[in-house]
Amino acid sequence: MTVIAQLSFNGRIRHRRGESFKPRHCLKRQEWYSWKPRPKALALPDPATPTGFVSLVSAGPGDPELLTLKAANRLSRAEVVLYDDLASGPVLDHAHPQAELIAVGKRAGRPSARQDHVNALLVEQALAGRRVVRLKSGDAGFFGRLEEELVALAAAGIAFEIVPGVTSASAAAAAAGIPLTRRLTARRVQFITGADVTGQLPGDIHWAAIADPAVTTVVFMGQRSFPELAAGLRAHGMPGDTPALFAESVGHPHQRLIRTTIDGLDRMLQGAAVTQPGLIIYGPLAFDI
Ligand SMILES: C[S@@+](CC[C@H](N)C(=O)[O-])C[C@H]1O[C@@H](n2cnc3c(N)ncnc32)[C@H](O)[C@@H]1O
Repeated sequence: MTVIAQLSFNGRIRHRRGESFKPRHCLKRQEWYSWKPRPKALALPDPATPTGFVSLVSAGPGDPELLTLKAANRLSRAEVVLYDDLASGPVLDHAHPQAELIAVGKRAGRPSARQDHVNALLVEQALAGRRVVRLKSGDAGFFGRLEEELVALAAAGIAFEIVPGVTSASAAAAAAGIPLTRRLTARRVQFITGADVTGQLPGDIHWAAIADPAVTTVVFMGQRSFPELAAGLRAHGMPGDTPALFAESVGHPHQRLIRTTIDGLDRMLQGAAVTQPGLIIYGPLAFDI
C-alpha cells in the first residue's frame, strides 16, 4: 500500500492511497498544529442531521494477522479511518480502497495531534453522517485515551461501539514464548504506565504493589523512566536479579526480545535513545522454559 501525508484545504493531515509515501516524522511541526476544528464540530447534534456511527477498533500490536475478524470487518466498511501512529502500517490494508485515512496519532517525543483536536475531528466526521473507524494500537482499552474520546462522542449524542483486540502485553509474552500468569508463582498480572502526561514516571506509584515479587508486572511507555523505576523497586525490596523481558516493536518485522533482569535492563536503558515502542515485563517469568 502506498500512502501520502498531505494537508487538506483546511490544514488537516490526510493520508491517501495511490501516491508516494512521506513518513509523518518528515512533516513540519506547524503542519500538525495548523488546523482548527470548525465551530460546528463542537455543537450538539441537530436532530434533523443524520449522525454517523463510530467504531473504536483495536488494531493489535502491528501484525495484521493479530487483527480480529470484527476489526477487519469494521475497517473494510469504514468511510473514514482515524488512526494512531502505532496502528498504521499493514493493518491499514484492510481499510476500504476508497476510505479516507487520517493520521491522528500521538508518539512520545514527536510532534503529535492534540487530544482535543482528535476528539473534535471524530465528532465532526460522525456528525457528517459518515461510518467512522477510530483505530487504536493493541487493545483500545489500555492506555489509549479511549475514555476522552468516548466522553466526546457521548456528549455529542453519537452512537459508538468498542471492538476489543490483542494488547501488546499479551503479544509480547506470546512472542517470547512465556505465559503472563503462573499457577503457583504469578497469580496476578498488573499493567502499569511508566509515563504520566508529562512523560515522567507517575508520582503516585503504589510501590508495594509493583515491587510484589509474586506478580507479573507489564510496564507500558516505560523505557525512558525505567532506571528510576528500577531504583524504586530495589528500594522497596525487589531483588535486582528478578527476571525482566524487554519487548520492542512486537509484531513488526524488526521485533526485538531481550531476556534479562531488572538490573540488566536498568543498565541497558540508562541514557538509551527511544525510537521504537517497547514494553517491559518483570516478575517471576518462566525463563526456564
Ligand atoms: C499509548 S500505549 C497503547 C497501548 C495499547 N493500547 C496496547 O494495548 O498495547 C503505547 C505503548 O504501548 C506499548 N506498545 C504498543 N505497541 C507495541 C508494540 N508493537 N511493541 C511493543 N510495545 C508496544 C509501548 O509501551 C507503547 O509505548
